[in-house]
Formats: sequence, C-alpha cells, structure tokens
Amino acid sequence: MTADEFKITIHMVSSLDGYIAKKDNSVSWFETSDSYEKGVTVTEQDAKEFLKTIDCYIMGSRTYELALELSKSYGWVYGDVPTIVLTHRKLPVDRPNIETYSGDLDKLVNERLKPNYKNVWLVGGAELTKDFIRLNLADEIRQSILPVILGDGTPFFDQIGYEQALHLKDVRAYKNGMVELCYEIRK
Ligand SMILES: NC(=O)c1ccc[n+]([C@@H]2O[C@H](COP(=O)([O-])OP(=O)(O)OC[C@H]3O[C@@H](n4cnc5c(N)ncnc54)[C@H](OP(=O)(O)O)[C@@H]3O)[C@@H](O)[C@H]2O)c1
Repeated sequence: MTADEFKITIHMVSSLDGYIAKKDNSVSWFETSDSYEKGVTVTEQDAKEFLKTIDCYIMGSRTYELALELSKSYGWVYGDVPTIVLTHRKLPVDRPNIETYSGDLDKLVNERLKPNYKNVWLVGGAELTKDFIRLNLADEIRQSILPVILGDGTPFFDQIGYEQALHLKDVRAYKNGMVELCYEIRK
C-alpha cells in the first residue's frame, strides 16, 4: 500500500487485558505513572505533525456522546478534521466539521469516504470496530496498550466470530510505558 492510497485505520487505546473502557466510563486509567527508559519520546510537535496526516475521523454514537461529554473538560480532541458519527438517532451536533450518517457501511466507505479522503481513522468504539472488521472494510489496526490491567469493562474485540490474519507492520514502546502495535489486516 503506498502513502497516497485510501486507508481506514482502527485506533484504540486498551489495557493489557484488552479493555477499552471501564464500566463507569471513567478515563483516569489513560494517565500512566509508568516510565520506560528505552521508550520513544514524542514531542508535542511530533504529535501535531502526525495528527495532520489524518483527514477524517469516524466513530459510533456512543463514542461520540462520551467525547462530547469529555470535551466540556478537555476540549474537542478531534479538532477541525471532518468527523462522521454513525447513529440512527438525532444527536446534538454543534461543530460544522461534524456530520452524522446512518445505514450501510459499505456505502459509507465507497461513496462517502473513498472519493473524499485518504487517511481515515475509526476511533471507536467496540461495536463499530467489530462491524468494520466483519465487513472487511478496515485496512489497519493500531492498538495502544497502556501498562494497566483493568479486569473488567468493554472488551476491544468482543466475539468477532471468525479468525482474521494480520501482518505486524510496526511496534513502538513509549517513555510512559505504552506499547503501540500496528497491524495490517490481511485481505
Ligand atoms: N479506549 C479507547 O481508545 C476508546 C475509544 C473510543 C471509545 N471507547 C469506549 O467505547 C465505548 C463505546 O463503544 P460501543 O461499542 O459501546 O459503541 P460505539 O461503537 O461507539 O457506537 C455504537 C453505536 O453507533 C451507532 N451505529 C453503529 N453502526 C451504525 C450504522 N451502520 N448506522 C447508524 N448508526 C450506527 C449505533 O447507535 P445509535 O443508537 O445512535 O443508532 C450503535 O449503537 C465507550 O465506553 C467508550 O469509552 C474507548
């Protein structure tokens, strides 16, 4: 796959035991107090440059509702990048770069995303991830594993129902103890 080809990346932060959210949806576990000497340091500038490469976000409605709630304390983390929220409901939308979509995911990818974007990130949650993997619509999975065992909560992969081969593209360990695994989904 070359850099200018269309790609959908599923990105998720998880605990070592594979949970992406606690039952009460609290997010303090995202902040690690760990330190890994040999880890990579990422400057704010590096992060900004990297985020500039993403030209569209997609997310399920439950992820959106949580992001909206968190934005009251931390701001809207997806900035001005076009964002598509999947929902059958009429949700509050107060930013011009956010739109909602309901229905067929194949159509969303082929008619709405492919003609307009190159580097699309699916940022949650578990339900939408499962649908994209089952329908073979995602190209890559980036899992950022934090140094914590949550023991309970929402699993990243909950009974996908079939075996999916992957190709390990990259692994990086960071100073804060987070390990990022990047897999290509074999088609
Ligand atoms: N750790 C992380 O990196 C991370 C990232 C994101 C989210 N999360 C967590 O994940 C949880 C939310 O995930 P989730 O699996 O419960 O829900 P989700 O995937 O965020 O949203 C699922 C909802 O999206 C809507 N939807 C899905 N497909 C659709 C389609 N084709 N057309 C129209 N609407 C569609 C439906 O909602 P409607 O009822 O509105 O139709 C569905 O109930 C939260 O606890 C959040 O904290 C964690």
